[in-house]
Amino acid sequence: MTARTSDIENAAGVLRAGGLVAFPTETVYGLGADAENPAAVARVFQVKGRPPSHPLIVHIAGAQHLGDWVEDVPETARLLAERFWPGPLTLVLRRGPRVPLETTGGLETVAVRVPDHPVALALLSAFGGGVAAPSANRFGSVSPTTANHVRTELGDAVDFVLDGGPCEVGVESTIVDATGDTPSVLRPGGVTREDLEAVLGFPLAVPATSRIRVPGQHPSHYAPRARVVLVEPEKVVAEAEFAQELGHRVGVLLPPAFADAPVKAHAVVAVPGSMAAYARGLYGFLRELDQRGCDLIVASLPVEEGLGLAIANRLRRAAGPRPSA
Ligand code: TXA
Ligand code: MG
Repeated sequence: MTARTSDIENAAGVLRAGGLVAFPTETVYGLGADAENPAAVARVFQVKGRPPSHPLIVHIAGAQHLGDWVEDVPETARLLAERFWPGPLTLVLRRGPRVPLETTGGLETVAVRVPDHPVALALLSAFGGGVAAPSANRFGSVSPTTANHVRTELGDAVDFVLDGGPCEVGVESTIVDATGDTPSVLRPGGVTREDLEAVLGFPLAVPATSRIRVPGQHPSHYAPRARVVLVEPEKVVAEAEFAQELGHRVGVLLPPAFADAPVKAHAVVAVPGSMAAYARGLYGFLRELDQRGCDLIVASLPVEEGLGLAIANRLRRAAGPRPSA
């Protein structure tokens, strides 16, 4: 089912009235509110159960509007916006006066992006303003990649859910801090580091785990209910069977090289060999293993290049901090 014109108009009306609209993007579904309405933004934090100091991304209809939301647009940001928008890239820049501090979690910078999804773009055009939206899941849990994921997780807490089908990219946007002289990647995502470097002409530092601002101690993020354990690819089967023997209900994300291996576990998902397909499916796989009652998920990290970098980042964060040796 996909959104109709009347749905878009209704959803834009909900935003104008200070309500919450869940909407599809190419990465994951967002939980949107009028970015200039502090009360509406406060409801986003409340529904997500997210600390109010954790900033939101402002979604806009096109790169030509960027200047309306930020203090200035440095050359590098202009270049990246021109090349990658609409698309899974978020730029962090100095906050313009139009953006309330509630939206930026008190920061003097603001994250902005133009999503590459016809329903999101239609909503943004119909609404006319900026839509502040985090992923439409409860704080710390797996991001939604279908409208049903949103309905199941947030239910009546959302005023309107726009259905745009399953998300094409499947992992969140790449966040680039473009405030300083040298841009840096705060979170790997749908635009690869290699593509960014090709446009910038110099290498980028990318942290293994995200450096995005997370106040306090949050043990894990992007996490299913089941505990996630990461091992080397060749150890996945043995580790899974060992844990299953110990009485766990084990879910397995089976690496492509072992796709034909028989595994004695509770639930097995064979991971696609293409990183684009893996990224698209990742959050759905984690949700499925939860749904099938797994209490432990055994997985391995893909090679950390291209979209593999974002997948590895999410799996690491889902697994949480390693116990110290
Ligand atoms: O693909 C995406 O980016 C999705 C879709 C809905 O657009 N959105 C998303 O939002 O992933 P959220 O809130 O789940 O993650 C955004 C991250 C947060 O972890 C936040 O800390 C970071 O962006 N962020 C937002 N504003 C920031 C800022 N001014 N400086 C540094 N990090 C910021
Ligand atoms: Mg999120």
